[in-house]
Amino acid sequence: MIKIDFSGCMAEAVGSENGVTPDELALIRPRISSAHEQLQKWRASKEAIFMDYPFEVGLASRFRKSAEKVQSRFENLVVLGIGGSALGLRCIAGTLLPPYANLLERKKRGGAPRLFVCDNIDPDTMSQLLEYVDLKETCFNVISKSGTTTETMAQFFVALPMLKARLGGKWKEHVYVTTDPEAGILRRFVKEEDVPSFDLPSKLGGRFSVLSAVGLFPAACLGVDIEGMIDGARNISRVCADADLEMNPAYKNAAVNDILSSKKGKKISVVMPYCDKLSLFADWYIQLVAESLGKDGKGMTPVKAVGATDQHSQMQLFMEGPNDKVMTIFGLEEFSKTVPVTQVMAGFEHLQGHDMGKILIASQRASTKALVTNKRPVVTVTVPKISPQALGELFMFYEIYTAFSGALSGVNPFNQPGVELGKKLTKEILAQF
Ligand code: PA5
Repeated sequence: MIKIDFSGCMAEAVGSENGVTPDELALIRPRISSAHEQLQKWRASKEAIFMDYPFEVGLASRFRKSAEKVQSRFENLVVLGIGGSALGLRCIAGTLLPPYANLLERKKRGGAPRLFVCDNIDPDTMSQLLEYVDLKETCFNVISKSGTTTETMAQFFVALPMLKARLGGKWKEHVYVTTDPEAGILRRFVKEEDVPSFDLPSKLGGRFSVLSAVGLFPAACLGVDIEGMIDGARNISRVCADADLEMNPAYKNAAVNDILSSKKGKKISVVMPYCDKLSLFADWYIQLVAESLGKDGKGMTPVKAVGATDQHSQMQLFMEGPNDKVMTIFGLEEFSKTVPVTQVMAGFEHLQGHDMGKILIASQRASTKALVTNKRPVVTVTVPKISPQALGELFMFYEIYTAFSGALSGVNPFNQPGVELGKKLTKEILAQF
């Protein structure tokens, strides 16, 4: 199971100007109780359905048959979706598939199709993709909870006529829709055209939906052990059910960040995995916290960094720039491959015989120590090794952390009113073109 260590952000480690004191943790307790109650209310009213959904019996098996069909039949799986309908899947693929999976031949991909996630509506990318894939060998999974998202629908309105033109009546075998069970144009389309579809619970918002059909169906098509992810989510849910701050690491993380942001001027939250496979986890996390908690003038600004790459880029600023950040550093205990460094040149004897993973782990520990020495608060997340279970744990841990942080700071983590104006103006500007 993942381990979270808060010692690097306590006053004892980084001083009381930059770290959390035991008194501050004691003082926040009444607010923790109210936030816990609020979270239980959201669970009862289904706003926080993400906490209970992975416990539904037979969740994984809902996708098995269709996933097997897609796996055996198609060379490419193109997912059309954006925001919460894209980032979770990207992260699953980046974390659990072999690196450069699309470049591998089918057998080395475990017989799974190649994955292309289309989120942006950049015509250069889209046209290249549609030119690259053979539509006869391609399955499209269009994912939109609301069925009203401009970007996703524009992509679908481009792909669908192409599919119809190329495949005639057979186009229906190439489309799976994931959307609301009742509402929206996509649901209407499913009913009218009788194409296969998956339901998303009405109150399950995009950024909390990775462990639903949004992430699970395409992941199953790619041969990912989705049962393992669900198991991991269930495990961490049990760990993070306690109302007591000291017994619930998600609550403790929320409390620590609340104190650091409101009392110590830490307005930026840097997430820094020391592992390429978790680099897309940082993107998923950023959307989750930014869209959920950035409201009413509140919220910490999330920033992504990847170790060791960003030790040669942003680390200088993290060490000696404004002391306005909380660092969350993710490290692995064990990588899945070993790559020993052999035959070093003079001056590099300290690398001789060491495995690359060990060097990366050493860099992570060294950076953490150096940051704490420089009085920069650090939360350390240790992942034993990359696995579906560990990823499920990470997803659920940060979803609970985010929902609870919303309750703690008095914002509704499940809406996103700030993006509505932009959507309205896009329509107005398009009408003027
Ligand atoms: O987290 C969210 O709710 C958003 O980021 C949505 O996922 C995004 O706007 C896409 O919405 P939809 O799935 O309705 O197309």
